Amino acid sequence: MLRKRKLLIISIVLIVTFMVTTNYLLTRLTTASEGDTEIKSIHEKIYKELENLSNKYEIRKPFEDEITDTFIKNINTFTVEGNIKNVWQIANSWVSKTMLVDFMSLHVGSLLLALKKSKIIKADLDGRGTQLKLLLTLEGHQDVIFKPKWYEKETIIEGPVYAGKDRYGSEIVGFYLSAILNMPLTPCSVERNISLTYEIMPVATKRLINTSFIIGNRTCIYGKCFYCKKEDPICEDKNFSLYGAVIFNINASLKSYRSPWQRTYKKNKKAVWEESDTYCKLVLQVLQVSIITTSLSK
Ligand SMILES: *[C@@H]1O[C@H](CO)[C@@H](O)[C@H](O)[C@H]1NC(C)=O
Ligand SMILES: *[C@@H]1O[C@H](CO)[C@@H](O)[C@H](O)[C@H]1NC(C)=O
Ligand SMILES: *[C@@H]1O[C@H](CO)[C@@H](O)[C@H](O)[C@H]1NC(C)=O
Ligand SMILES: *[C@@H]1O[C@H](CO)[C@@H](O)[C@H](O)[C@H]1NC(C)=O
Ligand SMILES: *[C@@H]1O[C@H](CO)[C@@H](O)[C@H](O)[C@H]1NC(C)=O
Ligand SMILES: *[C@@H]1O[C@H](CO)[C@@H](O)[C@H](O)[C@H]1NC(C)=O
Repeated sequence: MLRKRKLLIISIVLIVTFMVTTNYLLTRLTTASEGDTEIKSIHEKIYKELENLSNKYEIRKPFEDEITDTFIKNINTFTVEGNIKNVWQIANSWVSKTMLVDFMSLHVGSLLLALKKSKIIKADLDGRGTQLKLLLTLEGHQDVIFKPKWYEKETIIEGPVYAGKDRYGSEIVGFYLSAILNMPLTPCSVERNISLTYEIMPVATKRLINTSFIIGNRTCIYGKCFYCKKEDPICEDKNFSLYGAVIFNINASLKSYRSPWQRTYKKNKKAVWEESDTYCKLVLQVLQVSIITTSLSK
């Protein structure tokens, strides 16, 4: 009888201890990860969804698919001779609501060559965005954007993804990536070296010249923009050349829409899409409304 009571008491003590410990641990663990439980749950949901993704997404397109092959052939074909204006006209005619570039066009190579070699007939500051850019007009009256090289290609910038200055190479990589993925939403871009002294200053606007100076015999430009500073100019090298990306600027005025998936530029501030479970639905609704409005106004 006495032994039975002892056993019962021990069991009760053990059960109570177990419950208290479990409860304590559970509370500790939830408070410890409270800061990002919501985000985690969205990420977890994404991974869960992935498991159920339809089979058609499992099949990976071979890298060397037909579109990429044709595109590579096209960029090495030079078709348009004579009037450079023809190249610009063809390139501008590709632009529609769903694409900026026709990768299947035989004239892609001629366009890239024209961006690389055409004479610069006017140079101005480009006020768009927050960093230094030039707006160049090439012969045949086609505008292009010039993003200067600030770093060597292999330079790694530490910090958040938006740390450091523009990397001109990403414009060019972006263009080729869009071709490989067959999503023609990135404008044609090429690498080009220009001479500030010999190619830019002779055709520069007053406001561009106003933000330039000469060190020794080399020209430097600091521009006018959010991050532009006189102490932080871009200069040509000893050979009077400056590398950068030349980006095709469509000859039309476009309406700009803010991307619903834009990131934030503050470490502790999350974008709506990172926090809201119902954001997709909202975007879809707004999209449908805007499609209806657009087709009504046509
Ligand atoms: C995945 O599919 C199974 C079976 O169709 C379903 O029970 C489950 O809810 C699905 N999971 C998600 C996250 O959609
Ligand atoms: C671009 O548009 C401007 C103004 O409409 C025009 O003067 C220029 O010739 C056009 N350039 C090309 C390449 O079509
Ligand atoms: C820049 O390009 C020109 C031709 O446009 C070339 O002669 C020159 O050597 C290049 N400069 C450098 C530093 O590569
Ligand atoms: C040149 O810069 C000065 C001050 O930096 C300014 O007052 C002037 O208006 C500018 N001139 C032009 C043509 O932009
Ligand atoms: C530019 O300056 C450098 C050294 O200061 C000199 O060696 C070079 O000849 C100059 N070039 C021109 C084209 O004036
Ligand atoms: C200038 O050009 C010469 C010959 O093309 C090249 O060897 C040298 O690296 C160039 N200098 C710079 C700073 O790019």
